[in-house]
Amino acid sequence: MAILITGGAGYIGSHTCVELLNAGKEIVVLDNYSNSSPEVNARVKEITGKDFETVECDIRDEKGLHEVFSKYDIDSVIHFAGLKAVGESCQKPLEYYENNIGGTVNLLKVMAAHNVKTIVFSSSATVYGEKNVAPFHEEMEVGGTTNPYGTTKLYIETILQDLWKSDNEWSVSILRYFNPIGAHSSGRIGESPNGIPNNLMPYISQVAVGKREKLSVFGDDYETEDGTGVRDYIHVVDLALGHVVALERAMKINACEVFNLGTGKGVSVLELVHAFEEATGVKVPYVIAPRRPGDIATSYSDASKAERVLGWKATRNAFDACRDTWNWQKNNPDGYSV
Ligand code: NAD
Ligand code: UFG
Repeated sequence: MAILITGGAGYIGSHTCVELLNAGKEIVVLDNYSNSSPEVNARVKEITGKDFETVECDIRDEKGLHEVFSKYDIDSVIHFAGLKAVGESCQKPLEYYENNIGGTVNLLKVMAAHNVKTIVFSSSATVYGEKNVAPFHEEMEVGGTTNPYGTTKLYIETILQDLWKSDNEWSVSILRYFNPIGAHSSGRIGESPNGIPNNLMPYISQVAVGKREKLSVFGDDYETEDGTGVRDYIHVVDLALGHVVALERAMKINACEVFNLGTGKGVSVLELVHAFEEATGVKVPYVIAPRRPGDIATSYSDASKAERVLGWKATRNAFDACRDTWNWQKNNPDGYSV
């Protein structure tokens, strides 16, 4: 029996594949490589010393998905595939709704047709919207997303909950990630954004490696300790390990459950810059710039449910993540395109 990993060649997917293989699971990676490279699969095999099947397929391709479920003995799905750029989603909302929501509905239909009813889904802290006050916990009312990307996560959560209500044989685990950063300690896999990075950590590491001149810190007048935005940065390997336990639980019980995957601690933009400098010995020049539209001041998790129910807790800190990001970035300055 194998786990189908949609978007398995992506940043979080690839790290999760490593941890699943290390845990002795069998996987099939499915990706359309719209935001990744097949080279990732080779590196996951190299890190783990284990082999697995890979399929180039789009989750919107119903026929293609049927073939995958007919060919392989799939008993569960970890669903990472989706578009994730907040700014781009405001320019191209229909692409986001079609790819993320349309693709997910298609995947769920094909799963049902093959009687595969266990799914772990990549959601986001963005569903807590602007009105809730951190720490965010799973029982808070969600909504009020500020961009189409965030709205796709909100709708997919609702679709999964409705599906479960219609048929309790489904087992659904919705994982709300906070801010994933870092890389595998080998330095062989990591985050490889196309073009100018939108997110803080890849931007910092590209400044450090000399690809960008300086970081713009978006606002220093928030109501936070140093005035810069506060986020819950979670090491991608801790996040990956969260998927292993979430899937194990989903295989055992038929429920629809939501878990925050975060550290429970807020770190400001300037604190992350300083942690990076300390962990790497490399200076990161920055300027204070205006606030970025749509940003909230503070986002961090109440991560106690995942610890209580899944027995999962983040064990790596921002310093570890900075060190591992740097190890990846300096050895792969152009990501996978070398
Ligand atoms: P990523 O872009 O690195 O990985 C997504 C993968 O999905 C890519 O390999 C891409 O090629 C593939 N993909 C996209 N559309 C597809 C389609 N239609 N069919 C098949 N494959 C497709 O992103 P990531 O950071 O690894 O994120 C993984 C998931 O986690 C996404 O759903 C994302 O929205 C969610 N998430 C990410 C973050 C974050 O900050 N990175 C935060 C919260 C949630
Ligand atoms: N920031 C800067 N300069 C930059 C980039 C970011 O100062 O060049 C600041 C932002 O203003 C924010 C913090 O760094 O205060 C983190 O920003 P990111 O873009 O790295 O992360 P966000 O919290 O804005 O968004 C991320 C994901 C979204 C997801 C959200 C909630 O990109 O997809 O977390 O989970 F929806």
